[in-house]
Order: sequence, then C-alpha cells, then structure tokens
Amino acid sequence: MMDSDAFFVELPKVELHAHLNGSLSSATMLELKRFHADSGLEDKTNAFFDEFQIGAGDTRGLSDCFQVFSIAHSLTSTPDSLALATRLTLQEFQDDGCCYLELRSTPRDTPHMTKLQYIETIIKAIRKASVHLTMITTLIVSINRNQPLGEADEIANLAIECFKKYPENVVGIELSGDPMAGTFQSFIPALTKARGAGLKVTLHCGEVCNPKEVLEMLKFKPERIGHGVCIHPKYGGTDETWSLLCKLKIPVEVCLTSNVNTKSTPDYDSHHFQYLHEAEIPIILCTDDKGVFATSLSREYQICVKTFAMTYSQAARLSLNACQYVFAHNTRKMLNDKILNFIEKHSL
Ligand code: IMP
Ligand code: ZN
Repeated sequence: MMDSDAFFVELPKVELHAHLNGSLSSATMLELKRFHADSGLEDKTNAFFDEFQIGAGDTRGLSDCFQVFSIAHSLTSTPDSLALATRLTLQEFQDDGCCYLELRSTPRDTPHMTKLQYIETIIKAIRKASVHLTMITTLIVSINRNQPLGEADEIANLAIECFKKYPENVVGIELSGDPMAGTFQSFIPALTKARGAGLKVTLHCGEVCNPKEVLEMLKFKPERIGHGVCIHPKYGGTDETWSLLCKLKIPVEVCLTSNVNTKSTPDYDSHHFQYLHEAEIPIILCTDDKGVFATSLSREYQICVKTFAMTYSQAARLSLNACQYVFAHNTRKMLNDKILNFIEKHSL
C-alpha cells in the first residue's frame, strides 16, 4: 500500500465547492504579483499580503474572512491576470488529483473589464487549459449576498446568457458572501429565473445560526447546499431544519478546514460531518478556499479519514458517491468509471 499522502493525491476526486479568488495559493499570488509588476499595474497588496491566509489558531473569524478576498481581487482585476489566476489554479487542482472541478466565481466590474468580460475570461481560460489537462472544469456563477438586488439580477441574466453561449462550460449559479448580509428571500427571483433557464443551483446554507433562513433555503430545493453547519439542533439548527434536510436528502458540500479555521465549528472532532454521515445525507468533501485556508482536496480527504476513523475504502467510496452530484450530467459516468477503476486497481 502506498503512503497516505500519495494515496489521497492519487485517489481521483471531484471538487464542487471552490471559490476562484479564495483558491489562489501563495505561489499563485506571488506569480500574479510579478505579472502585475511586469504589466506596470499599481500593486496595493504589499502591506497586507501576509494576511491572506487564515489558519486554525487565527484570531479572525468568519466575518473577518470576507475582508481577505479583496487582497486576491486586487490581483485579478485585469483579463490577463484573471486568466493567469484561473490557469494556475486549475493546474494545482489537477496536480492534487482532481478529475473534475466545478469552479465558482463572482463576476466583478473593474476598471479593466465588465462582468461579462470577467465571466468570459474565466470560460476562455478553462477552455484553453482543457487542451492539456485531463481534469474537466466547469463554472458556477456566484451571486454575493452583499450585492444590491439589481446586481444579483444582472448576474443571473449574464449567467443565463453565458449558459446559452457556452453550455458545456457554465453549469450553475450559487449564493455566497457574508451570511450576515442580505436575506435569502430577496434573491429568490434571480435564482428562480436562472433555474428556469436550466442552471443548477447551490446555496451557502446554515453558515451561521438562522433557522428561518435555512428552512426557506431547503424549501427552495437547491440541487446542493454548501456547509450546512447550523442545521442539526446541536449546531444551531432546530428539529424542523434537521428533519427537513433528512427528508429531502439534499447533498452537502462539506468543507472541514474552512469550518474549523473560520470557527464555524470548534475543531475537526466536533464537526457536523458525523451527523450528516449517520443520517445518510450525501456528502461531498470540498476545499471552499484552498488558498485562504492553506489546504488541498487530498488533505481534506486525509483529515476526514483520520478524524472519523474511516478506511481508505470508505474514503474512495466518498469520492465515488460525490460524482453523482456534479452539475455536468454528461460527465457522471466517465467520472464514476475512473474512480471505480482506481478502487479495483487498489482492491479497495
Ligand atoms: P470569488 O467569487 O472568486 O471572488 O471568490 C471569493 C468570494 O467567494 C468572496 O468574496 C465571497 O463572496 C465568496 N466566499 C468565499 N468563501 C466563502 C465562505 O466561506 N462563505 C461565503 N462566501 C464565501
Ligand atoms: Zn464557500
């Protein structure tokens, strides 16, 4: 049997919850800084570059986490730097053994590009990278809860436009950003419109204690939810929120290190993973922001196995199960076969 690090890298994995600007590694950020300097662009990141990563012992919590993204944003404000960030990040996910990536990002107007150019830049970078990568990448367009409603509607329209133009690249829409900002209800019209056009929906749900909103989100029946921390009564949910999730069995994108480092959960041992697992709610292990939280998907699998005393076979089956929930339906069988091959090769 190969060593543990190698096993978890070699295990083919699907990543379904990765924010582009939160996924920039230190190496990618340095490369982007060099690119910025070479392009003669003003670099405002020097003073706070070291503050990008949030570790477990960090005094910053979930709300502070949202400030660090502006550091990454300052390095992805031109089409060329955004394309470079996408290319380098895709390569890192593939090098870590991902066979399918659903990348998500919030379109921004910058002095150098419009929201449409932002989305199309990422799509073009994905298409270009697909020539030499074996990993398949698709895009989920993000709406930030902090954005005014008009902007959410604009983003939904752009997502629909790009979905029609690049159906094999754009697969979904999602709601993220500071969970204390805005209300889910107000985003329902934009999300419903996108869903009506064929886009799949995933929602950051239950990152903070808000049972009323969790119920509204679950009743909307998104294809998946992210985090799902405050749903079980032990974690700030109620009997009603938990029993509805158990009934609907909506797959949860679980981000262990993200939850620990932002203090949504005190430590790995007390993570709600165990409750989801026991209730047979589908779980997809994800990284969320691998750059900010200095992690990788193989590391998240390794942590999961160690924390919850799982076997390698159970870890491989977690990955196998996850491929049922990818938004690009036409890739499911191929991903399933790839992971099954690995399982058979290693007699798991
Ligand atoms: P971007 O969408 O590529 O710019 O990635 C960064 C953005 O993702 C942030 O500005 C947030 O809106 C969102 N995001 C990243 N991590 C989280 C999280 O843990 N909860 C909610 N939103 C998040
Ligand atoms: Zn997230």
